[in-house]
Order: sequence, then C-alpha cells, then structure tokens
Amino acid sequence: MSLIKEIIKEAQEKEYAFGTFDTSNLEVTQAIARAAEVKGVPAMIGVTETALRYAGFLPLVNLIKGIMKESEADLVLHLDHGKDPEIIKKCIDEGFESVMIDASHYELEQNIEITKDVVDYAHKKGVVVQAELGKIPRVDPKMRNEEILKRMEKTDPDEAEEFVQKTGVDTLAMIIGNIHGMYKPEGNPKLDFDLLGKLKKRISIPFILHGGSGTPSEDVKKAITEYGIVNVNIDTEIRVAFMGAISDFCISGHMVTDPRKVLSLARDAVQEKVEEKIELFRCNN
Ligand code: G3H
Ligand code: ZN
Repeated sequence: MSLIKEIIKEAQEKEYAFGTFDTSNLEVTQAIARAAEVKGVPAMIGVTETALRYAGFLPLVNLIKGIMKESEADLVLHLDHGKDPEIIKKCIDEGFESVMIDASHYELEQNIEITKDVVDYAHKKGVVVQAELGKIPRVDPKMRNEEILKRMEKTDPDEAEEFVQKTGVDTLAMIIGNIHGMYKPEGNPKLDFDLLGKLKKRISIPFILHGGSGTPSEDVKKAITEYGIVNVNIDTEIRVAFMGAISDFCISGHMVTDPRKVLSLARDAVQEKVEEKIELFRCNN
C-alpha cells in the first residue's frame, strides 16, 4: 500500500486529519517538513500549477523531493487544484503520490469525463486522485458572506453519489460553505454541517476540506471528529505568516544584505503556523 493510502487509512481509523500545506519555495517547504518532524505526524506538501509555473516544474519538484528525502517525517507530494490534465499526468509520471483534478468549474457531465480520464491514468500507476464537486465563487474582499453563499454552488448529494460512482475517484473535496482565503471582520461563512451529514450518509470515500484558512477551529474539529474529514488544506494562513514575518522585519528598520537573515524568520513563522494547524487537526490524538 502506498504511503498516502496508509496515511488516509490511519486518519479514518483514528478520527483525525492530516494537513495539506501548499508551498512554492524552499523556506515554506522546509517549514512544513520541520513542523511534521517536530510533531511526529505525516503531512502532504501541496503545489499548484501556478507554483510550478512560477518556480519551474523541475526546480520546484526536485527541491521538494530533496527536502522530503532528508526529512524524518512521512511526507507526500501532492498536486493541488490540478486543472490541466497534461500537467496532472506529468506530475504522475514524475512520481507524485497524490493529485487533485479540479474540473469543478465544468458542468457535472464534463467534470465526470475529465476526472475519470485522470483517475484511469493515475490508478494504473497507483496514484491517489482527489476531485472537487460544487463551485466556490470568486470572492471579492468586500463581499458579504450572504453574497458569497448566494453565488456558491454547494455540493449536491445526488450529484456527488453519481460523480463518485462514475469516476472511481479516491477522495472528494466538497463545497459546504468553505471558501479560499480569510475574510475579516465578518469572518468566513459557516460550514453547512447539515449538508455534510447528508453527504456522509451517501458517500463512503474520504472527504477533504479545502479553504482551511480562516475557518473557526471549533468547526474544523467538528468536521474532523463528527463527519470524517481526513484532510484539511491550508494555503493563505501560510502566506500570511510568511509575509507577516518579512513585513515585521522591514518595519523594525533593521538592514541586512543577506536575504537568508529575513527568509529564515519567515520560515520559522510558517513552521509555527503549520505546527499550530497540525495540533488542531490531530484532535487530541
Ligand atoms: O487548496 C488549497 C486550500 O484549499 C487553501 O485554502 O487558502 O483558505 O487555506 P486557504
Ligand atoms: Zn483548495
């Protein structure tokens, strides 16, 4: 059994979640690996297509693989929100153990078709596939929660059942009020636990929660312990921790010529944030 399958199985059995933490550079990747080592837990390191374009495919993938190789933690390389089937297949060929195909912006039939094609390719190589169903709207910071929820297309239980059955996907990212990013002062919309309960009754594959940043801790815990969420994705809070440390340094008026002096502070801040999230997702395990 592959490492990611073992990690998912253990999370299901022990009723906790592991994190997927997104990265696009050296320091964030090191911070994720260090946090997982300190806490003695597995973690997924997520990269997006934009991160791969920014850093270059091989430079970023090889950087992460190098850090994973030297780490004592169980780490899995994952493609987050893969939209281009060609890039997804390239990731599979390059040794990713887990990929996400996000064709959620298409209508159901097309989402099924695109997802199934990826699943067929991935499963031949033992790679786990996560897919998404439902639509998260583009959120403008000034938008009220009411407006966000009006534009959101939450995952429909009937469609979800058909989707899982026709695609053979391994895990499902559903839309239950979750959004990407953090919104203040109103806070992110509430998760729809009623809907999550209905989905849980109909679907037996593990659920993934996207948009982990800004979701109240009690809601995250409840989703994990009562509704079987096995994996929570975090990106924005990592970026905020990283940039916060750099801004604080700049505001302090110190001058350095060695970028490592500043970037190592950002790395420490991200490690602290990832450790905090790992604590939360373990739910007393
Ligand atoms: O795919 C990544 C996650 O869903 C990140 O969401 O930026 O709200 O943490 P977030
Ligand atoms: Zn996401």
